Amino acid sequence: MGKDVIVACDFPSKEKTLAFLDQFTEKKPFVKIGMELFYAEGPDIVRELKARGHRVFLDLKLHDIPNTVKSAMAVLSGLGADIVNVHAGGGVPMMKAALEGLTREDGTRPLCIAVTQLTSTDQETLENDLMIHAPIKDVVTHYAKNAAGAGLDGVVCSPQEAGLVHGSCGEGFLTVTPGVRFADGDKGDQKRVMTPAQAKAEGSDYIVVGRPITKAEDPVAAYERCLREFVD
Ligand code: C5P
Repeated sequence: MGKDVIVACDFPSKEKTLAFLDQFTEKKPFVKIGMELFYAEGPDIVRELKARGHRVFLDLKLHDIPNTVKSAMAVLSGLGADIVNVHAGGGVPMMKAALEGLTREDGTRPLCIAVTQLTSTDQETLENDLMIHAPIKDVVTHYAKNAAGAGLDGVVCSPQEAGLVHGSCGEGFLTVTPGVRFADGDKGDQKRVMTPAQAKAEGSDYIVVGRPITKAEDPVAAYERCLREFVD
């Protein structure tokens, strides 16, 4: 897999998602299906977008006891998603169980990555809400090493941390990075943000971009701007 832009399809229905994606006539974007769309439409939305030729990152961030995660991942594995994920905070046995559940009879499986810390979490949230009294960069590195040790393929992290993660887990360990904003754009609720060009310089493998594309006046132009800044 090479560098690419993943468009976060945070829409409430299949109709809105397809109307949005129908605008992209040149290149079918790699898409991310999150909780909102999956809970609204169920597993068929994954099958439908795959059938339309999109690569799919199914971003459900599983976090439960190992047995439950293993069984749930066995179901998700059958849907044909290209990437699925868990919260690294669920621990190493949970991440290993996720891989077991994902592995099909023929030995193949979707890529599985772990959320280190949400890009909406900053040092203050970490300390005050989660009672984690370590620098956020150390927490991210520690969680990424746990994910690599459990056999996962990469992590979701802030683009600001992509270089750090590659430094501690290897260049082949994927960094999938939301929290991307254009230099002249709105940050919204994201705290640890970078532009597509900065994410590229930091070594990020995939940027996940939602509102800067979905809420743009011209979503296709915004997507193409991301490709230009990040991939070309
Ligand atoms: O609209 P925006 O570009 O902020 O969308 C970012 C997307 O990435 C959202 O769908 C959000 O759920 C997801 N995400 C994130 N931070 C993580 C993991 C996923 O923002 N750590």
